[in-house]
Amino acid sequence: MKFVLKYFTGTGNSLKILDTCKDAFIAKSHVASISAIKVGQQLPQDADVIGFCFPVYAFGIPRICRQYLKELNRFKKQQKVFVLISAGDADEAGLAFRNCEKILTKKNCRVIYSAVVQMPVNWIIFEKAPSEKEAEAIIQKGVEFTYQVARDILNGVQKFHQFNYPKRYSKFGFYKDYFLFKYLGIYNLCRMFKTYDSCNGCQLCSKICPTQSIVMVNNRPTWTYKCEQCMRCVNFCPKGAIYQMYGGDTLGKDRYYEPSFKPLKEM
Ligand SMILES: Cc1cc2nc3c(=O)[nH]c(=O)nc-3n(C[C@H](O)[C@H](O)[C@H](O)COP(=O)(O)O)c2cc1C
Ligand code: SF4
Ligand code: SF4
Repeated sequence: MKFVLKYFTGTGNSLKILDTCKDAFIAKSHVASISAIKVGQQLPQDADVIGFCFPVYAFGIPRICRQYLKELNRFKKQQKVFVLISAGDADEAGLAFRNCEKILTKKNCRVIYSAVVQMPVNWIIFEKAPSEKEAEAIIQKGVEFTYQVARDILNGVQKFHQFNYPKRYSKFGFYKDYFLFKYLGIYNLCRMFKTYDSCNGCQLCSKICPTQSIVMVNNRPTWTYKCEQCMRCVNFCPKGAIYQMYGGDTLGKDRYYEPSFKPLKEM
């Protein structure tokens, strides 16, 4: 079978998940290619199965992933797809899968498998990053789970993620955070990024940003509206110099990225 695998990632978790699928498919002599999504870029019409993996942001998929899916051409013949959601908490994927399914159905896709894969939390601005050891254990579990997913897909097993309200939230709190982030946060949080004096103007953040949102002005980064809040710049800054105003202090906090992820290579 021919698999085409597409991802968006901030800190490498979603890539790790799809890479694991790719390895599992190739090990069984299938053909599999993997690449990052690009808004406006179309998918081949001759794939047997297309697989997507996106992180969840505030119970939904990132804005760029919605845009990407919306701009896909409708498939001429029904296309089989699977959707994996990379989440910091398997209980808190919220509407991420439904977001994807709603658009994919309109594109003449049939979802044959969907699952949430728990990976380390990368939103270190408001959540505590796991320690190196904790992260290692979570990744290992996520990878093992993903191998099972890949085996299921190869064996024609169909499973679908069931929506649930996260236990930590009331229904009101859930929809408040979902809509606030989707319609307000994503357009405004970029303006709250700042740097501590430890920033040395090395430009790494600007080079590795997956949405080219960081522009260097007077040797300091400035953030623009295309920012997806993926946390790559925050977690990779060698000086730990990036924070967000109004509660997003990052001094002394651990950083997280998936250890095999090399963003400069990805660019
Ligand atoms: C802005 C933002 C919001 C997030 N919201 C959620 C969430 O609602 N539920 C959840 O389980 N994880 C949430 N996370 C954690 C990420 O989904 C998780 O760490 C994911 O594995 C990151 O994948 P990546 O490394 O491919 O970017 C959030 C992360 C960010 C940056
Ligand atoms: S990566 Fe960090 S130190 Fe380098 S320019 Fe960006 S904020 Fe400054
Ligand atoms: S500016 Fe930072 S948080 Fe925003 S998309 Fe780029 S790397 Fe991600």
